[in-house]
Amino acid sequence: MLSLRHPLLSSALLFALQLLPNAYANNTPNALTSKLAATLVQTEIQQNQDALTYANYTEVSVSHVELALDVDFKQSRLSGEVTLDLAWHKAGKILILDTRDLTINSVTALDNAGKWQSIPFTLAKTDEVRGAALTINFTEQNTQKVKINYHTSDNPSGIQWLTPEQTQGKQLPFMFSQSQAIHARSWIPLQDTPAVRQTYSATITADKAITVVMSADRKTLSNTQTQFTMPQAIPAYLIAIAAGHLTFAPLNDISGVWAEPELIDKASQEFADTPKMIEIAAKRYGDYRWGRYDLLILPPSFPFGGMENPRLSFITPTVIAGDKSLVSLIAHELAHSWSGNLVTNATWRDLWLNEGFTTYVENRIMEDLYGRDRALMEQTISYSGLLAELTELSPRDSVLHLDLDGRSPDEAFSGVPYVKGQLFLVFLEHKFGREHFDAFVKNYFNHFAFQSITTTQFREYLSLNLLQKYPKIVSEAEVDNWIEDEGLPSFLVPPNSHAFDDIDTQRQAWLEEKRSTDKLKTGTWSVHQWLRFINEMPRINLNQAKLAELDKAFHFTGTGNSEIAFAWYSLALDNGYYAVLPALKQHLTNIGRLRLIVPLYQKLAGTDQYDWAKNVYLNARPGYHPQTQASLDDMFADTPLEHSH
Ligand code: BES
Ligand code: ZN
Repeated sequence: MLSLRHPLLSSALLFALQLLPNAYANNTPNALTSKLAATLVQTEIQQNQDALTYANYTEVSVSHVELALDVDFKQSRLSGEVTLDLAWHKAGKILILDTRDLTINSVTALDNAGKWQSIPFTLAKTDEVRGAALTINFTEQNTQKVKINYHTSDNPSGIQWLTPEQTQGKQLPFMFSQSQAIHARSWIPLQDTPAVRQTYSATITADKAITVVMSADRKTLSNTQTQFTMPQAIPAYLIAIAAGHLTFAPLNDISGVWAEPELIDKASQEFADTPKMIEIAAKRYGDYRWGRYDLLILPPSFPFGGMENPRLSFITPTVIAGDKSLVSLIAHELAHSWSGNLVTNATWRDLWLNEGFTTYVENRIMEDLYGRDRALMEQTISYSGLLAELTELSPRDSVLHLDLDGRSPDEAFSGVPYVKGQLFLVFLEHKFGREHFDAFVKNYFNHFAFQSITTTQFREYLSLNLLQKYPKIVSEAEVDNWIEDEGLPSFLVPPNSHAFDDIDTQRQAWLEEKRSTDKLKTGTWSVHQWLRFINEMPRINLNQAKLAELDKAFHFTGTGNSEIAFAWYSLALDNGYYAVLPALKQHLTNIGRLRLIVPLYQKLAGTDQYDWAKNVYLNARPGYHPQTQASLDDMFADTPLEHSH
């Protein structure tokens, strides 16, 4: 990557400077002329388009993706072909697609006479962030269909291949995709930008013992072939696939759980409230528009808590706590059915439109289903988390309307779009009142349904339909402050749950030695109250003996609740309480969810436990997802260390 930094250079211009030498490096003479390239860059700047795609999507856009793929567990490879339907917005002969580490075997196009003809293409040099542009040069103008025969690489960033040993059942292999933000291009050549929406269909072939699922309507064709249809236009990052030993348990007529047989009962009990969540959200925000809503429980190496793939949210097993204490994750992924999947961020700079709205809607669902106390506790915990994160985050990444500045969206990922976004919407809710604000949000989802929009478009809609409709309540300057400024506005009213008052009082008394461990009254504490108890403990100089006493009384080390485990190990490491290390090793080895492991590795790497952590990492690494590997490799990239126990 070019590291050009000048305060007067806008990010768009910087992007343009970076784009030229990379994207067009290996083009043959019949590819883009530099004049056309310059025009493209011009439009990029004018239209504030997605800087993370090579696609010339203002000229031609993909309207339908048709996949015919083999899931080849022997070679850990997807191979086959994709047929793209094209909609031309200007007369033209050039199509540029996104790819990353794909092998392209051939490209054919449907000519005017209805024949498939072989077509020249060039694959540009790979850029670390955006991958490699695939430029296709048609012979005829406005070609309607193009077919690409390809296969994936050994370790695509958007797919994890698991051995049978890495699954619950230990008998059959498993694979799954994670396309958000820009990893769809590592398993399908396409226009990998959330600005472009397309329908998709797929015919997937796999061994007869393997069940294949996708983010689409599912139909079994034979014992080796499954067919999928997604009739609603979605952005590329929502195309998803998983395959393994899977069974299905219905929750009601439109909702159910897919999981390995060993987990299906526990999972369907844990998530039994999902149908109620759908009903609650649909009542407030308008019909659920995707037909079914199913959950897929992934192996613990899944790098996220959840992923809102339409019709089929992908879910980490680390939220199966046995007591429904972590089901806000389901409310969250479900909420994306409105914020994100229906109304989509047009670029990754606008991620807060997806995640901020979703975090807000998630919490409203939690409030309706489990009560105001639970919802406010969750808000308060997220807020404390955000404050802690803000002390470490680079100030520019504390802005809602993100400045990616050529970076990968993975690199700028933080709690800011989620929690600051949520706080902004809670602010508006309080100012305008629930009646008006709920109506506004519902109308917003309807107005922009099945569209991808930018922060600017949201702002215009907000001004017109809220600020000006009910004047003198919230100013444009205040909105500006929320959206464009660093940190948190001075006029923020922080969420504060009184269910934590007693927890804080008892902790304080315990810390001041006014109350002994056995006198703590914890009998009625919920998981969230326990989290509060642990999270707000001092981060240095907590007496080892006192930590050991707590651990002995409440059995934190080795707990089955992944959030409590994470909170406890964080506290232990901050205070150098290394009695947790054996259990922590299990935690780090068994789980691949970034949020539950990366901060712990970070803490370890900054102490004399660095070598211990590196050993744990090297042993766990083969079981981690490529994105988890990528996040952690840098941390331990100094000298090669023996691969040992
Ligand atoms: N869409 C996100 C996951 C994501 C975001 C993947 C950006 C890649 C890039 C998903 O809905 C999400 O937010 N997951 C959270 C859930 C939590 C905040 C309830 C997670 O994984 O922890
Ligand atoms: Zn989300």
